[in-house]
Amino acid sequence: MIFTEEIQNYAEQFTSDESDVLRELREHCDAHFEDKAMLSGFVQGRVLSMFSKMVRPKVVLEIGTYLGYSALCFAEGLADGGKVITLDIQEDTNKVARSFVERTEFKDRIDFRLGQATDIIPTLNQTFDLVFIDADKPNYSNYYKLIFDKLRPRGFIIADNVLWSGKVLDTGDDENAAALSEFNKMVLADERVSNVLLPIRDGLMVVCKN
Ligand SMILES: C[S@@+](CC[C@H](N)C(=O)[O-])C[C@H]1O[C@@H](n2cnc3c(N)ncnc32)[C@H](O)[C@@H]1O
Repeated sequence: MIFTEEIQNYAEQFTSDESDVLRELREHCDAHFEDKAMLSGFVQGRVLSMFSKMVRPKVVLEIGTYLGYSALCFAEGLADGGKVITLDIQEDTNKVARSFVERTEFKDRIDFRLGQATDIIPTLNQTFDLVFIDADKPNYSNYYKLIFDKLRPRGFIIADNVLWSGKVLDTGDDENAAALSEFNKMVLADERVSNVLLPIRDGLMVVCKN
């Protein structure tokens, strides 16, 4: 953790509450899944929801559904008739995601696709307003390249875990840290965008296409 627990608690205390379904989903993840840290936490979830409310996207592409927590957060800010397309490769976690989404007002606005994201993205003939990259770290740069031409001008990319618990400072032999470090360098050098690395949770890279 990059912030002290006290600061994290304070940030949580002074952040608007999430829906009952989102809270239940986090609790379900804590109780039944070993990979708890994969799910966006409460404050990060509220940040993603807030970005979505600011952008009012018609189409969000999410790469990495897991239990559907962040998809539901993005859905809160969709424009009328908007949708979240969310990609994942794991059937078991996808079932859990679908069962929680089914209980919400967003059940017809979240489009689940199962398979390798690198295979699915080229088949999507859509223009995206916002893309969330949150799947396998060695593919982050590939995902960025694959979605870039499908992102509208002034569209946004948000990439999670770009600090990789601080290991991007000294990647050593950590393959994920090295991939994320390369991703961060690539984004910074890309003259087609402006970007800010927000040190929220494990690091959110926020990118705006010029
Ligand atoms: C960190 S979790 C996503 C968390 C979710 N976005 C959230 O914030 O609640 C990463 C997900 O990416 C999925 N994933 C990993 N490699 C993938 C691939 N090649 N294609 C599609 N999904 C993949 C994993 O199965 C996992 O569910």
